[in-house]
Amino acid sequence: MLNDLINIAKEAGELIREGFGKNNKVEFKTNETNLVTEIDKAAEKLITEFVKKKYPAHGILAEESGEMKTGEYLWVVDPLDGTTNFAHGLPVFAVSIGLQKKGKTIIGVVYDVVNDIVYSAEKGGGAFANDKKINVSKNNILRRSVLASGFPYNVSENPYHLLERFSEMTKRARGVRRLGSAALDLCYTAKGVFDGYWEMELHPWDICAGMLLVEEAGGMVSDFNSNPIDMYTKRILATNGHIHEQMMEVLQSQDVK
Ligand code: IPD
Ligand code: CA
Ligand code: CA
Repeated sequence: MLNDLINIAKEAGELIREGFGKNNKVEFKTNETNLVTEIDKAAEKLITEFVKKKYPAHGILAEESGEMKTGEYLWVVDPLDGTTNFAHGLPVFAVSIGLQKKGKTIIGVVYDVVNDIVYSAEKGGGAFANDKKINVSKNNILRRSVLASGFPYNVSENPYHLLERFSEMTKRARGVRRLGSAALDLCYTAKGVFDGYWEMELHPWDICAGMLLVEEAGGMVSDFNSNPIDMYTKRILATNGHIHEQMMEVLQSQDVK
């Protein structure tokens, strides 16, 4: 099934690449910062139609259409992660597809559309960027770390001290990046480009595939208290393992009032 995930992610990526930079129809979802384009919808349709045809018994949880069906197998689909980037002409976005069996992720594929890189992982089989095995970084010093994070679409209300956490981490690390694609943040963490990544209020389709990539690349994934998480958990900390404690300490220190 890995090849099916890879092929359909690439096919969706092709559609996205063709639409990039064109005058696509954009709609607001919850508010004016939360966008969906006709390309998100078309890419999702392509993937879900494929699943329905080839695996009619499988369930699908896809961002733009919600949960469509449950089953022993569940395809968790973000057809275009990084929609704001895409809509504004910034070439940083991906297709993310995770496959779960009985509630556990067994395959994760993230397609970096612009760089034409397929990140893939199978449970117990390691993580890959195209055919090359990838590993998390070895750095164990927060001060020497480059990190990533992101914000939910209600960041202007600053719930959960999002900005304080970002500010404190920026002071403590070498640098903090905000790419605008959670799936790619996780791939870069799996690849050792980022030493760690945290975010709040994400959705299953943002992290299902990326979490497996980080784990299979030798990294660690938890909430902000070291508890194991699943794709429905609203707080994610994904690191190379070595700076996990140090990042957790900073995140917890801002969990005030
Ligand atoms: C968003 C991206 C972004 C993250 C947001 C997500 P979308 O997904 O992953 O990096 O910060 O919270 O909603 O809407 O572009 O698929
Ligand atoms: Ca997303
Ligand atoms: Ca999306």
